[in-house]
Formats: sequence, structure tokens, C-alpha cells
Amino acid sequence: MAKIAPSLLAANFANLEEEISKIKTGGAEYLHLDVMDGNYVPNISFGIPVIKSLRAITDLIFDVHLMIDRPERYIKDFVNAGADIITIHQESTTHLHSTIQEIKSNGVKAGVSLNPATPLDVLDYIIKDIDLILIMSVNPGFGGQSFIQAMIEKIKATRKLIDTHNPNIILQVDGGVKLDNVEEIVNAGTDLVVVGSDIFGAEDVVLRTREFNKLIV
Ligand code: DX5
Ligand code: ZN
Repeated sequence: MAKIAPSLLAANFANLEEEISKIKTGGAEYLHLDVMDGNYVPNISFGIPVIKSLRAITDLIFDVHLMIDRPERYIKDFVNAGADIITIHQESTTHLHSTIQEIKSNGVKAGVSLNPATPLDVLDYIIKDIDLILIMSVNPGFGGQSFIQAMIEKIKATRKLIDTHNPNIILQVDGGVKLDNVEEIVNAGTDLVVVGSDIFGAEDVVLRTREFNKLIV
């Protein structure tokens, strides 16, 4: 059964507690937290203190997506802030294997994210060590972009790779997921779909969260 991870990036930052309670009421179990540093990606979002404050008000699973240079510098801080999953970009760290070990040694799940043009074979020697693979279906940095259709084949190939080499891995897809393409994305083999603008940009966030949940179960 697939699940959704609403992305806080598209929420009203002046009212985060209410936004989070809406997705929870709508049946979400995960909260996707996009951390951007203005270096690895052009945009700047939010960081450790915001996540820490949110941890105090919700028991949602915190799925932290780090779009920052050299994430190895901050793993402990994100763990202490309340992350349950930490996903890093393979392109952002020189020593991918060691950064993954650092995440896991802190007792949280470790994910690797691949940009649209990054081939799957970068995972060949790390696949037994990771808990999640994030296939970016837009170029990272901004919400509200269009899903890159060529990623459907990549999702299918990743599904095969996971089934063959480590079936415990969660296959996550992030970027441009909407009500009208989520079924195709889930049918291609996705376990966890990130949805930003199509949930928090909806007029009725609770209802929209429920609509997504109904479509993907
Ligand atoms: C993009 C982020 C996404 C973004 C998705 O860099 O990683 O999580 O919030 O937003 P939508 O669903 O609007 O494409
Ligand atoms: Zn993300």
C-alpha cells in the first residue's frame, strides 16, 4: 500500500501548526520537510530550529529531505531536532557511504536521493545499506514544477532493483505529483509519494489529503 508525504514547503509558513493538523486529519502519517541551503539548490527554505519546534507539536513521521552541501556536517543536529528519516543527495556528499553510516548510527532511517539525470548505478554498492531511495521527478529547489514524464521508466527500474537486491527499501518519488498523475506514479512501483502544492495549495487541505489517500490505497 502506498502512502503520501505532504511537503511542508508548500504550506502557509505563518500558520504551520494548523497546516499540519489539517494533513493529520486528512489521514497523512508522514511530513516531508525540504531543507534547502541556497548552495546545493538555488532556493533557501527552513532548517533545524523549525523542525525542532514542529517536533514538539506533532507525532507525524518526519521525513527530512536535505538539499544542502556536505550534509554530513549536520546529521546529528537533524537527528536531535526530531528527524525519523534523513535523505541526502548522492551528488551533495563526497563520501556517500560514510554519510549513510553516520545517519544510521544515530538510529534513524537513511535515504539517498537521485536527481532526474542521475543514473541508478550510483546505488550499486550502497543498496544493502539504505532504507529509502528518493527519485526526484523534478529538478530540486522549488515546489510547483511539472512532473518529468521520463521518470516513470526510472521508477519502474528502481522498483526492480529494490525487489531484486533489498526489498525493505522504501521507494519515494518527489516533485510534480498531482491528483491526476498519482495513480500512474504509484502503479510504477512507488511506496511513498511526496505532494506539495497539490495538497497545501488546495482550497480544502483536509479533503485533498483524503482524496489522495483514497486514490492510492
Ligand atoms: C522540490 C522538493 C519537493 C517539493 C514538491 O525540490 O523536494 O519536495 O516540495 O513540491 P510539488 O509537489 O509542488 O512539486
Ligand atoms: Zn522534497
